[in-house]
Amino acid sequence: MQEEQWISYIRQKKVCLCSGLSQEDLEKAIQKYNIRSFNELQYYTKCCTHCGTCKEKVLEILKKNLNYKKN
Ligand code: FES
Repeated sequence: MQEEQWISYIRQKKVCLCSGLSQEDLEKAIQKYNIRSFNELQYYTKCCTHCGTCKEKVLEILKKNLNYKKN
């Protein structure tokens, strides 16, 4: 399996590879901490704190799950 295929496969399991967070992890944090912004989600989960390639998907999950308000 080539590197790009491997990353694509892993991304199906984990949204943020650097912090090891799945979509379920992010959704649980949004509910648990009543998160309303990207910065809050980043603070509580440490998502998007390294390479940042997950930001688009993280924002998509955040928008889908709660009353997301842009900072
Ligand atoms: S994959 Fe999320 S910060 Fe790198």
